[in-house]
Order: sequence, then C-alpha cells, then structure tokens
Amino acid sequence: MAKRRLLTGDRPTGPGHLGHYVGSWENRVRLQDEYECFFIVADFHVLTTAHEDTVPIRDNVRELVLDYLSVGIDPTKSTIYLQSLVPEVAEIFLLFTMFVSVPRVQRIPTLKDVMRDLEIEVAPLGLLSYPVLQSADILMVKGEAVPVGKDQLSHVELTREIARRFNSLYGPVLPEPEAIVGRVPTLPGTDGKAKMSKSLGNAVFLSDDERTVERKVMGMFTDPTRVHVTDPGHVRGNPVFAYHDAFNPDRAEVNDLKRRYRAGQVGDVDVKWSLGQALNDFLTPIRDRRRGFASETGLVDRIIREGSDRARSEAAKTLAEMKRAMQLDYYGSAAVQSPGAAGQSGRSREGRETR
Ligand code: TRP
Repeated sequence: MAKRRLLTGDRPTGPGHLGHYVGSWENRVRLQDEYECFFIVADFHVLTTAHEDTVPIRDNVRELVLDYLSVGIDPTKSTIYLQSLVPEVAEIFLLFTMFVSVPRVQRIPTLKDVMRDLEIEVAPLGLLSYPVLQSADILMVKGEAVPVGKDQLSHVELTREIARRFNSLYGPVLPEPEAIVGRVPTLPGTDGKAKMSKSLGNAVFLSDDERTVERKVMGMFTDPTRVHVTDPGHVRGNPVFAYHDAFNPDRAEVNDLKRRYRAGQVGDVDVKWSLGQALNDFLTPIRDRRRGFASETGLVDRIIREGSDRARSEAAKTLAEMKRAMQLDYYGSAAVQSPGAAGQSGRSREGRETR
C-alpha cells in the first residue's frame, strides 16, 4: 500500500537551532520510514520579511540542507527540495488566494508576532499571505501529516480550511492535513523569552562548537528571584531546567538537580555546567555528521536538484488535477510542459468527459 505523505520544512534564514530540533526535526527523522516525506526549503517565504537583501539566502539554503542531513534526514528515503525550483507552487497559491479573506489571515497570530519582533509597521501583501503560500506547499504534494512547532498550528488549520473549501466547491482532490507537534512544543530562548529564535538572538545552534555552547549556557537566564545559592530556587518556568528536560537523557541527574535547586542546595553554575555537558553530548554526533557531509563537494547541490525535480513532478500532477476539477483545463496544460506533467492534459480531457 502506498505510504501516506508528509510535508514540512523551514525558511532558510540561518543555522538551525535546538528549538527546530525538538519542535519538528526529530519527528521528521522518526517518521521517515512510516511516511513518504517531503522537506521544503522555503526560500520564497524568506522574502516575506527580507526581500531587500537576498544575498544571504543562497548560503542559508546550503546550511539548512546540511542541518537536515546532520540530524539524520536521509535523502535516499526522503525528498528535500527548494521551493523556488517548483514554480507550480505559485500557481496553486494564486488559486488559493481566492478562498481566503483578508481578515482571516489578519487574525493569524504569527503575523502579529513577526510584525512585533521585526518592527514591521505595515504588512506587505506577501507577508499577509504567508500562510496561504504555506498551504500551497503542503497541498501541492498532497501532504497529510505536517510535523511543526506549536506556533505553526494556525497555518495548518488554514490549510485544512482551504482544502475543505476546494473540495466542497470542485470535488475531492485535496487532503486535510494534520499537524504533528513535537515533544517540546515551544522551547524557550536562552534569555528566558517564550520562544527560541534566531532573530531574537537567544538560540543555541546545532552547528555551534563546544565552547560556544558552554558560553551560551553559562550566560542563560535563570531564576531571577534567587540571589544566594541557599535561596530556594524555581524550577518551573526556568529555561535551564526546560533544556535539561529536553536534552539531558540522565533523568536521575535531572531529578536530583531539581530537588536540590528547590531546596537551595545547588548553585546555578553547577546546574548550567551539567547542562552544557548534556548539550554537547547531544550535539557532538550532529556536528561530526555535518562536517562529513559538508566536505563532499557537490552533495548538497545534487540533493536539491534531484529532490526539486521529484517535488515538481508531484506538484504538476496536483495542479493539473486541481485545474481539471475546476474545469480550468479548457486548453489543456501550458504549452511548456513541466517534468511529470506530460500526458496530464490528455488524461484531463477524459476526466472531464466522464464527470
Ligand atoms: N512557516 C514555517 C516556519 O516558519 C516554514 C514553512 C514553509 C513550512 N512552508 C512550510 C512548514 C510548509 C511546514 C509546511 O517554520
């Protein structure tokens, strides 16, 4: 039986961090055999907040693919591809914009968060329609499962609405995807802010070296009410312990530290020191794999090209089906056939006649 489809991805804005890992990436690795997986490097999405300086995108694409490989995403099992190499996504997006009202996207919480964090006063149309483009990403390969961080749930919800709307108007073409949230839905930043994020400058990157990790951990925000080591400390809401919970496999040690912290019997420096060790133990194999992949000339380019060809042929199929359902295929497909779309126009004619 054909496997169910999974699609998720990231914007290439910089190196991946611990929040990406627990929010979504470890789920991807885990689900790679169970699902037919597509991982999108969403470079068009970067433009929604940074269209002026496009130069860094190219390197960030490469870094993101190296991140994927280093955490264990296997390009022989899964498809890793670049959004801008699949132009069908723009056409699917265009069709979707008809189904979504402006107030509907204005209500999406990520929009307000991004505008606040980046101090954007007036949202460009592209930023407003960010989640609609994301819906096109998901539905163009008929993604049914979408592993994402908690902040992305509202985007998956919109995707479901779009799919329902399409299907009820034109017939059952699109699946209603389900989000899969990671075991740590939102990892706090090193500064104690609710969310780890590169743009907030509070992230520990998967590619950070050991010393950098130690330095970031030693500088972490902790219980602000605690002045002396003997003061009873707060474990809940303390990011140092949130990271211990997420990354330290030695549960006995974590429980012991928590107990002593609450009792005022262990200092922040000790708790942080053991966290630094745990994080470095976790990151060492990831760093090693990364170094190996980075040294293979042409590897990343080849993965992107092959993956994008494959994603494109799937997107072309979905788009042809959508247009057929919408009876928009009156002149067949476009004159210049995209890979995989060959033969679609012939079949679509028949499809229409039998309706
Ligand atoms: N919006 C996602 C993020 O910022 C990235 C993304 C783009 C995505 N397209 C997607 C995630 C499709 C899941 C599915 O993290």
